[in-house]
Amino acid sequence: MIKRIASYWDQRIHDQEMTSHPVGTLGFFDDLEDYRFDKLRYLPGLVDFESYRGQQLLEIGCGVGIDLLRFARGGARATGIDLAPRCIALAQQNFALHGLDESAAFAVGNGEHLPFADGSFDVVYAHGVLQYTADADRMIAECRRVLVPGGEAIFMVYNRVSWLNALSSVVGVGLEHADAPVLEKYSIPEFQQLLESFADVRVVPERFPVRSRLHRGWRGAAYNGLFVGTFNLIPRVLVRRFGWHLMAFCRK
Ligand SMILES: C[S@@+](CC[C@H](N)C(=O)[O-])C[C@H]1O[C@@H](n2cnc3c(N)ncnc32)[C@H](O)[C@@H]1O
Repeated sequence: MIKRIASYWDQRIHDQEMTSHPVGTLGFFDDLEDYRFDKLRYLPGLVDFESYRGQQLLEIGCGVGIDLLRFARGGARATGIDLAPRCIALAQQNFALHGLDESAAFAVGNGEHLPFADGSFDVVYAHGVLQYTADADRMIAECRRVLVPGGEAIFMVYNRVSWLNALSSVVGVGLEHADAPVLEKYSIPEFQQLLESFADVRVVPERFPVRSRLHRGWRGAAYNGLFVGTFNLIPRVLVRRFGWHLMAFCRK
């Protein structure tokens, strides 16, 4: 299964359709970063990328290194691993083009069998990865193992009980990477259970509708013109638990 997952992600670059720049150019990476932080505008409010200066930080499933670059810019001693060799090559290129190639280490590797000693990292980050791997329990155990006592783990998985999953079931809105070899969704209690080995766990549902650049035609018009505005009129406190992303902040 892991080979199938690696091969799937080696042939796809997350959000590649959002840029017209050639793969691996500065314009390509900057477009992907711009798109990501527009779609995930909640993320810098929850993860202070600037606050890990001097800390050993591991990102599992780093893709082309968009988030890792932010951690490195903030002074973290960054390490990125990903199953897909193409992702790692592009992440290295991304760092080189931004003049940060000295500030990170990269490896092709499996987050379920990390090639690091116990207690090697202050922080482990995996955003949008647990739901695509073969054995999420195993990845969690590995994240815990490589953390120092008291270290922080940050994860994001998809919320099964969410506005986007409902929209997908009712209206047939396509979910990204629905064809991936593994795509799990979790309810909040299921996610908490996955994380139960951590001493302290805080789950925050996020990712509410924002105008989509992805959906065009009548669907895009209905979504952007009607759904996004109407949904966002509902007080957030009433719909908070239905956010599409479940962020978890954990302490070992
Ligand atoms: C949806 S992409 C997310 C990439 C990046 N974290 C982001 O948010 O843009 C999922 C990534 O997880 C990686 N991945 C999946 N399972 C993995 C595993 N067991 N070990 C390491 N990387 C894995 C894939 O290769 C892919 O790059």
